[in-house]
Amino acid sequence: VTFDQAMEERIAQILKRYPTKRAAMLPVLWLCQERYGWISPGVIEAVAEKLEESPAFVEGVVSFYTMFHRKPPAKYVLQLCVTLSCELCGAKTLAQHIKDRLGIGFGEKTADGTFQLVGVECLGACGGAPVIQVNEDYYENMTPEKLDQLLSELAKEQ
Ligand code: FES
Repeated sequence: VTFDQAMEERIAQILKRYPTKRAAMLPVLWLCQERYGWISPGVIEAVAEKLEESPAFVEGVVSFYTMFHRKPPAKYVLQLCVTLSCELCGAKTLAQHIKDRLGIGFGEKTADGTFQLVGVECLGACGGAPVIQVNEDYYENMTPEKLDQLLSELAKEQ
């Protein structure tokens, strides 16, 4: 990946706000994901070069955070919180429901590329457990029924 002029400028803006290049890594990666949809090996190389880090270091950061996609993502990424509050309030039932309905488990994508299920740590909305984030939107107090409705609506928007 070679960054175009617009990306170079936006990265330069980000770098100005941080004391070191390494400190700017998360926002730079986030910008890349917004732009390219996922963090490909080529993006890792380019970011490593830009921030003067080794590709292995950048790779380590990317693999630590579930918010970064390391493969082209599905149209809708279902991020199901699996931390304690959500777990106690039925996250497992929701995961099973998704498996029954869409045939996908954690880390898997439907064959048509519409849905992908990811297990994530606390989304910071424990009061509304169980919580599922679909792309940028949060859905709280989820039940299998509400999930069914949501999945049907999303599938219709195809
Ligand atoms: Fe699920 Fe906090 S435990 S949002």
